[in-house]
Amino acid sequence: MKTVAVFPGRPNSVHLAEMPKPSVDEVPDGRGVLVKVLRVGVDGTDREINAAEYGAAPEGFDFLVIGHESFGRVVAVGPKVAELAPGDYVVAMVRRPGASIYDRIGLQDMTTDDVYFERGINLRHGFLAEYYVDDAAYLVRIPPGLKEAGVLLEPFTVVEKGIAQAYEIQRRMRVWQPRRAAVMGAGTIGLLAAAALRLRGLEVTCFALAPKPNLNAELVEAIGGRYLATGEVPISEGALRFGPFDLIFEATGFSPVVFDSMRALARNGVLVLSSVTGGDRRIEVPADRINLEFVLGNKVMVGTVNAAREHFEAGVRDMAQAEAQYPGWLSRLLTDPVKGLANYSTLFSKLANPNGAIKVFCEVADL
Ligand code: BGC
Ligand code: ZN
Repeated sequence: MKTVAVFPGRPNSVHLAEMPKPSVDEVPDGRGVLVKVLRVGVDGTDREINAAEYGAAPEGFDFLVIGHESFGRVVAVGPKVAELAPGDYVVAMVRRPGASIYDRIGLQDMTTDDVYFERGINLRHGFLAEYYVDDAAYLVRIPPGLKEAGVLLEPFTVVEKGIAQAYEIQRRMRVWQPRRAAVMGAGTIGLLAAAALRLRGLEVTCFALAPKPNLNAELVEAIGGRYLATGEVPISEGALRFGPFDLIFEATGFSPVVFDSMRALARNGVLVLSSVTGGDRRIEVPADRINLEFVLGNKVMVGTVNAAREHFEAGVRDMAQAEAQYPGWLSRLLTDPVKGLANYSTLFSKLANPNGAIKVFCEVADL
């Protein structure tokens, strides 16, 4: 079968690679599930992997099959799989357990191991392939009514985990009732964060680079959010006018925004950081001021990566609620379909030059 792979460490090495079609008995204990891939989304992580800034091949291979935002349909299951059947739509989780205590209780997203295993990213092949096989434990069923937007689940889980962590931490407050939220960035993660926070009844202000009008701003406003272009209203000014914010979700990919966000946070507020910033940027910040405000205001800042099974399941429920509350909104994020694995170079040229694209994804097969 055809797959899309890179040679980790070699920039711009994305290519088609031939692999044998997998089978359910590659997974121990009769728990294998064979999935036909329908759609795979790509993001900044894939761009960094192809730029050789990130990613590693599985042991015994010199290439890594990429793609971690999957959507597919079950074609066969092993004898010990009762929870899935052929015909079911599924999304696969990304990270696989290592050795830490968190990994051993199903929270590999919280691993303390130095080495972690992520399908399509690090040491495990991904989903840009005609088929994949996996243990049923790592597959999440998607109701047929969500099939159009199902490929957005994996990015949605990053948001779900971040928000769940924020609420979990804020139980320290006993009576925390967040009203105002800010989302930094209006890419896929920022937009999904805005939606998840609107579904929880918060007022949402989204800060982003691009001036209006643009599709991202329209999407924020379509769910009752406020969109501010930072060239017109800097974060500090937006916070004075519409903040301070009880919860801030940072998803710009630009680390200096973290420090502006710290200052826009309300007393007792929580700031969630989700940007993976591989560079080594340095800036000067008002350290005393920020520290003082954090201390006197009992503020919290938390980093979040990847997601556990519960966040995939919460993501499915929120996507269903989003479809009910904002019909068709999720699918409007799917701006740039690319047909067929063989067109992998178009996937990457769209990632390099987004030109207004929100989600670039490969239509591996028809839904
Ligand atoms: C993926 C996460 C992953 C992270 C770090 C993101 O692009 O969506 O699942 O944990 O990269 O590799
Ligand atoms: Zn990703």
